[in-house]
Amino acid sequence: MLKGKHIILGVTGGIAAYKSAQLARLLIKAGAEVQVIMTPSAREFITPLTMSTLTGKPVITEFFTANTGEWHSHVDLGIWADAMVIAPATACTIGKMAHGVADNMLVTTYLSAKAPVFVAPAMDLDMMAHPSTSANLSLLRSYGNHIIEPTSGELASHLIGKGRMEEPERIVQVLSDYFSESKPLKGKRALVTAGPTYERIDPVRYIGNFSSGKMGYSVANALASAGADVTLVSGPVSGQNLSKNVCLIKVESAIEMLNACKDVWHDVDIAVMSAAVADYRVANQSQCKIKRERDSVPNIVLAKNPDIAATLGGTKKDHQLLIGFALETDNEVQNATDKLSRKNLDAIVLNSLRDAGSGFGIDTNKITIIDKTGNIIAYPVKSKPEVATDLVNYIIDCISNK
Ligand code: PMT
Repeated sequence: MLKGKHIILGVTGGIAAYKSAQLARLLIKAGAEVQVIMTPSAREFITPLTMSTLTGKPVITEFFTANTGEWHSHVDLGIWADAMVIAPATACTIGKMAHGVADNMLVTTYLSAKAPVFVAPAMDLDMMAHPSTSANLSLLRSYGNHIIEPTSGELASHLIGKGRMEEPERIVQVLSDYFSESKPLKGKRALVTAGPTYERIDPVRYIGNFSSGKMGYSVANALASAGADVTLVSGPVSGQNLSKNVCLIKVESAIEMLNACKDVWHDVDIAVMSAAVADYRVANQSQCKIKRERDSVPNIVLAKNPDIAATLGGTKKDHQLLIGFALETDNEVQNATDKLSRKNLDAIVLNSLRDAGSGFGIDTNKITIIDKTGNIIAYPVKSKPEVATDLVNYIIDCISNK
């Protein structure tokens, strides 16, 4: 979608400027021509040499080159661009853009740009939460700019909260989506499960697992990017970024997840079950906090949880594609293949804890897709959003061959 597109990448002076190098690289890889404009303070965080080496174009920071007097026309740049993306955008630059303070090349070009402008804020959580930042972002939105919301997590200050610049892969995805005319999954309804389930022991304790939701949220976002109408049923997770087009249903336990899935399943064309569902719940759940006893330990009795994927598999119609995940530690292909047939899945995405870069919590995964005819496709380690894109491309192929 970005092949041949002229993109102005505006970089401002924040610690997230280090991610701009990766963003420039990904845009170039996607076939775009990238012109970087840096604010003077951005140069304190990342060198123009890094950016010009990656893009193959001299970086522009000033209105003219001092030793030659060469003039950099913000007007020409504004006309040249198919899109302008400012990443990271500091509170200062956001304020200047909102109020037309054209005291540097970046803001001047922004004011001249005819193309759509995408702004990816990055700042500390209190700056992000400040009413003046919210008001400035609202102003930018009201002028038709696209705000790529920051995510939550650990910030440069080591505080935890909202203010991390969105990952470069997602920013590229947002731009691709913008330029994509016909989306391959338009008109298709998709269901995704993500995260862990929590099975209560008493009002303050639960049985759970380490799933962060990163894989499932990436799948939901990738399906939405491909045009599907997505419902995400998610167990308890925090800090995951979700595309605006995804309908989120939050649940806690496996039974709640099952009920939410059953409610939409009849309407669904594609289901991807990436949640790590607890196989057991507590049969003797206590309504009061279990007290510590001096001479005994509590006896927790487990009951089997329903198998959500198998329940959906039991009523699967011909037009429905049901894909499961399997996290294995041994005898991987055999175990995953058994699950595939036991749950009546069309394909299963195997990830193994024995592979470096795979599994719970981390940002990468290494998957192997096994289908019901025994075909096996193995992929290298990639970021979870990239893994999700591979899976969605696989789904698009399946649907077009159905
Ligand atoms: O969330 P992250 O931190 O990013 O981690 C991602 C992940 C490791 C959780 C994900 O990639 C993954 O592998 N999810 C499946 C975890 C798993 O081990 O599933 P399972 O082998 O217990 O179950 C197989 C399939 O049946 C899965 O699709 C599961 O969602 C489904 N299942 C399992 C049990 C149950 N009661 N109901 C189900 O629907």
